[in-house]
Amino acid sequence: MEKINLKIIKSQAQKEIGEAKELKDLDKIFIKYLGKKGKLTHIFHSLKDLNDKKRAELGKEANRVRRFIEKEIKGKAPSSMKVSGPKGKKEWFDITVPGKKLLLGHLHPLTLVKRQIEEIFQTIGFSIVDGPEVENEWYNFDALNIPKDHPARDMWDTLWIKEPQDQKSKRNKFLASEIKNQKLLRTHTSPVQIRYMEKNNPPFRIIVTGRVFRHEATDASHEVQFYQVEGLMVDKDVSAANFKAVIQDFFSKFFAKPVKIRLRPSFFPFTEPSFELDINCLNCGGKGCSACSQTGWVEIMGAGMVHPNVLKAGGINPKKWSGFAFGMGIDRLAMMKYKINDVRLFYNGDLRFLEQF
Ligand code: PHE
Repeated sequence: MEKINLKIIKSQAQKEIGEAKELKDLDKIFIKYLGKKGKLTHIFHSLKDLNDKKRAELGKEANRVRRFIEKEIKGKAPSSMKVSGPKGKKEWFDITVPGKKLLLGHLHPLTLVKRQIEEIFQTIGFSIVDGPEVENEWYNFDALNIPKDHPARDMWDTLWIKEPQDQKSKRNKFLASEIKNQKLLRTHTSPVQIRYMEKNNPPFRIIVTGRVFRHEATDASHEVQFYQVEGLMVDKDVSAANFKAVIQDFFSKFFAKPVKIRLRPSFFPFTEPSFELDINCLNCGGKGCSACSQTGWVEIMGAGMVHPNVLKAGGINPKKWSGFAFGMGIDRLAMMKYKINDVRLFYNGDLRFLEQF
């Protein structure tokens, strides 16, 4: 009985496949015979009720028919078939249609520069350290030997988290120094020096990169937020010569060409002596141009030998240990590297700018 059925199925399927005009028809035929509830599938299901001999015999035959139907369908499908679709295109599958473009994100120029700085310092033994953006007065000022009346504490430079109760009445003559250990947005990355010294014993070399905040009007070279990189090395007998060597090496690697540096005396409460560091103008090569105000030099960072009071505040004995520290703006470095003329471009999210990196 089943054998006869198989024969009928085979010839029926063959006839229908022969008459099929569209791909759609072939789909239907496939489902009719080989689908879950297909005619041939039904026969496969019924095999379990037969005895061994019959099952083997019929199973073989049913498999043959299945392969036959599959082959017929495949043979008919590709080239000569009409694909039913909105436009009834001739092609079965057009391999020449371009794929959909995957939109991949990419890193912000400041992140790129930050990572590059970190990588260079890591190759000369510095570890990367983090600190909080919301600081308190102690770490941001006191511990860094910044006296209570230092102008950096003036409310116009520092963004304080909470104003004192009597702020309103004092609006004009208010000095932040009147607040006790008030929370603030860090104005530099230097507080992380103290945080690190508290928890670690010298010798050490660290780099801190992170965002800092200043209460300033914005223009092409000023933003209320920007990024800094801080360096701190504490060891036995560290000298300014060590600092010069490290920083010279860094700039040459960062700008991928030899860079000249020079130190000028300066003042920071947390270093003694303190320097301002200039590099030769990369725009004009030191001849003098508008980018360097015709001087041939560009001021790039503040630095100095760590003040004994700062070491003490961090729990380190200044009689045994010494060190250097430096701080510079990452935005500034990125601007020089990529010749960007407005710092605000980093923060306004304009894709025409960002997509160039
Ligand atoms: N923190 C200083 C600033 O923001 C830079 C600096 C860091 C200077 C370390 C000396 C040593 O201007």
